[in-house]
Amino acid sequence: MDFSRSEQIYKEACNIIPGGVTEARHPTKFVIGKYPIFTAIGRGSHVWDVDGNEFIDWLCSFGPVVLGHCNEKVDKAVIEDLRKGFCFTMVSPIQNDFVKKLIDIIPCAEMARIIISGSDATAAAIRIARVFTGKDKVIRWGYHGWHDWSYGGAGTDREAIGVPEGVKKDIFTFIYNDLDSLDAVFKENKNQVACVIMQPFEASKELPKAGFLEGVKKLTHENGAVLVYDEIRTGFRVALGGAQEYFGVIPDLACFSKAMANGYPISVVVGKKDIMESSKNTRISATFLVNTFPMVAAIATIQELEERDGISYMWDKGNRLFNGLNRLISDYRIEAEMIGLPVIPMLKFLYPDPEKNKEYRDFFFASMVEKGILLHPNHHWFLSLAITENDINKTLNAAEDSFKTLKKIIIK
Ligand SMILES: Cc1ncc(COP(=O)(O)O)c(C=O)c1O
Repeated sequence: MDFSRSEQIYKEACNIIPGGVTEARHPTKFVIGKYPIFTAIGRGSHVWDVDGNEFIDWLCSFGPVVLGHCNEKVDKAVIEDLRKGFCFTMVSPIQNDFVKKLIDIIPCAEMARIIISGSDATAAAIRIARVFTGKDKVIRWGYHGWHDWSYGGAGTDREAIGVPEGVKKDIFTFIYNDLDSLDAVFKENKNQVACVIMQPFEASKELPKAGFLEGVKKLTHENGAVLVYDEIRTGFRVALGGAQEYFGVIPDLACFSKAMANGYPISVVVGKKDIMESSKNTRISATFLVNTFPMVAAIATIQELEERDGISYMWDKGNRLFNGLNRLISDYRIEAEMIGLPVIPMLKFLYPDPEKNKEYRDFFFASMVEKGILLHPNHHWFLSLAITENDINKTLNAAEDSFKTLKKIIIK
């Protein structure tokens, strides 16, 4: 497969944009030289790169594209909105329609604040928790964006480069599925913790053990702190109301973005009325948060998910992929497993030698790209409603071929 146009644009980009391509999309995150770098077109479940190569898209731009690229209903609603004007000084009443919809769907939502990016939403949630509790410290688990309080450090595999010590000193973490580790952080910081903010689970790591999420909630409340779920990946995909609906553990506040608007930029913090009301005493603002087209897109996306029973559809197709890949892994005796949930799955190679593991993993995923299947080698994937039976069959056939060659020629 030829990526020469991608390579050429990348070369130019490196001289004018630090790193050439933004963080998570950087070639070093995939298999260097074996993946496209620039995309030209997306339609439904397929994308075409700038060299004209076509792929089945299992990444959905890291989650937002839940209905597939260029969903007609959503795009039509947005275009109509753009034509009437969308960026006003006095806000549009559409905000009420949008928020009422969220309150209907999301278990913890009694009120909402609309923002733009996921990082904005998580930063807003901890601000609200700090205002509500009058405390500064934050216990966090998972990825919550790039802002000072959430970037790197605190037990993640990244150094918090560029983050002041004064910020770091108030941020703590704990071990997932280990309530004692959370208890210890609370004990060391008695009466000083504003909130626990966490991804309910991380698909590329582990699922919650029985009682873990309930235990986190109990400990958080016993210590007078607010429980915040970061549902930016789980919302509108694991269940319409997110992981809180799926696991039946309801937080005080929650952040949603990504799949809510099929790619249009919008995020929200939702939660219990008394806590949300306290946010009137601080400033959570952004010039573009009044723009109407992302709200229009969100309403249309949620309607599509509801009308087409989108969550069941994604679970069904996700299960076919998840089980199909697991069967092939077992048939070809590959040391690997499918992890996460069928709607946000990942194939993890498990060879004990890290170098061999990387070699086999890179071979497999590069071979899938060569066959027109876009999967991520180091990150979980995302289901969309655009995925068809045909896409699944093609993906499983390509995987069978790739495992066969991996076993015959590379592993031997
Ligand atoms: C769980 C989670 N929280 C927060 C964020 C940050 O969102 P954004 O990149 O829109 O700022 C992300 C983005 O990937 C995420 O996956």
